[in-house]
Amino acid sequence: PASAKRVLITGAAGQIGYALCPMVAAGRMLGPDQPVILHLLDIAPAAAALEGVKMELLDAAFPLLQGIVTSTDPAEACSGVDVAVMVGGFPRKAGMERKDVMGKNVSIYAAQARALEANASKDVKVLVVANPANTNALMLAEHAPSIPPENITAMTRLDHNRALAQVAERAGVPVTKVKNVIIWGNHSSTQYPDVSHGTVDGKPIREALKGSEGWLAEEFVPTVQQRGAAIIKARGLSSAMSAASSACDHVRNWLLGTAPGTWVSMGVLSDGSYGQPKGLVYSFPCTCKAGEWSIVQGLEIDAVSAEKMRATAEELAEERELALECIKEAAA
Ligand code: NAI
Repeated sequence: PASAKRVLITGAAGQIGYALCPMVAAGRMLGPDQPVILHLLDIAPAAAALEGVKMELLDAAFPLLQGIVTSTDPAEACSGVDVAVMVGGFPRKAGMERKDVMGKNVSIYAAQARALEANASKDVKVLVVANPANTNALMLAEHAPSIPPENITAMTRLDHNRALAQVAERAGVPVTKVKNVIIWGNHSSTQYPDVSHGTVDGKPIREALKGSEGWLAEEFVPTVQQRGAAIIKARGLSSAMSAASSACDHVRNWLLGTAPGTWVSMGVLSDGSYGQPKGLVYSFPCTCKAGEWSIVQGLEIDAVSAEKMRATAEELAEERELALECIKEAAA
C-alpha cells in the first residue's frame, strides 16, 4: 500500500475546515487508495474546537486516515506536509475597510509562507482558499521564494463548478455532461465566467442552449459571480460544503490529472498568456498531469471576453498594490 501523505488544512476549526476534513479523510482529495495524515492548524482561541474536530475524525473511523496532528503553531503544523490547503484567514467584519482586512491577511500569509518554506516537504503543493485568495497566494509565493511558484495556486474551482452546474440545470442534463467552462481572473465578483469554449454532451454550450440566449447573455454571468452572496443570504453563512468539495476537486485534478479533452479553472501565476499581466495570480483554463498544470493555449477570445478579462486583471493589479502597501507599512 502507498505510504501516507500529509495534508495541512489551516483554519481547520472553521466552517470550510469542518466540511473539508472528512472529505480528505475519505479519499476525495488524493484518491481512494491513498492513506492520509491530517495536519490541522488554527489559532489559540479555536484550540478547543480544533480538538473537537479531531475527536469527530477519530470517531468516524475513516479507513484511510492514519493520523491527525492538531496545532496552533504554524511551524509544527507545516512539518513534512505534502499538500497545504490554506483556508485560515481573517474575515471582514462590519465596519472594516478593505485595506484593514487585506493587511491582516497579508501578514498571516507572509508568516505562513515562511513556516511552509522552513518545514514543509520540498515539493509541497499549496492551494489558497482564504480570501482574497489570488492575492493571498501571490503574497505567499513572494514570501516563500524557495517553493517553486508553480506549486502555489489559488482556488477558483468553486466558481468553475458553479458555472458547470448552472449550465447543466439550464440544459436539464447531469453536470458530468458539461465541460470546459472557464473562470478568468480573480475569485471575486469581477471574475469572468466564460461559456464560449464549453460543451454540453459534446455540443457547444451556445448551440445546446438554443432559445436561452437571453439567459446566457444577461443572467448566467451575474448568477455565477454573485452566487457566494446568494448562499450567504439563504444560509446566513458563506459557502462551506461546496468550497470544501471544490478544494478536493482542485487538488485531485492537479495531482492525479485532468481527463483527456477536459480542462479546469485554477488561479496560477500568470506567464502573460492571453495578454494577462505577468506576476498576477490569475485564473486560467488549465490541464494537469502528474502534479503539473499548464495553461490551455490557443483559445480564440472575442472583444467582449477580452474586455472582461482585462477588467478582472485590473482589479488584481489593484489588490497587489494594496497588499504591497500593507507589507511596507507593517515593516515600517
Ligand atoms: P471561518 O471563519 O468559519 O473559518 C476560518 C478559520 O480560520 C477560523 O477557525 C479561524 O480561527 C481560522 N484562522 C484565522 N486566522 C488564522 C491563522 N492565522 N492561522 C490559522 N487559522 C486561522 O471561515 P470559512 O467559512 O471556513 O472560510 C474560510 C475562508 O475561505 C474565508 O477567507 C472565505 O472568504 C474563504 N472562501 C473562499 C472561497 C473560494 O472559492 N476561494 C469560497 C468560500 C470561502
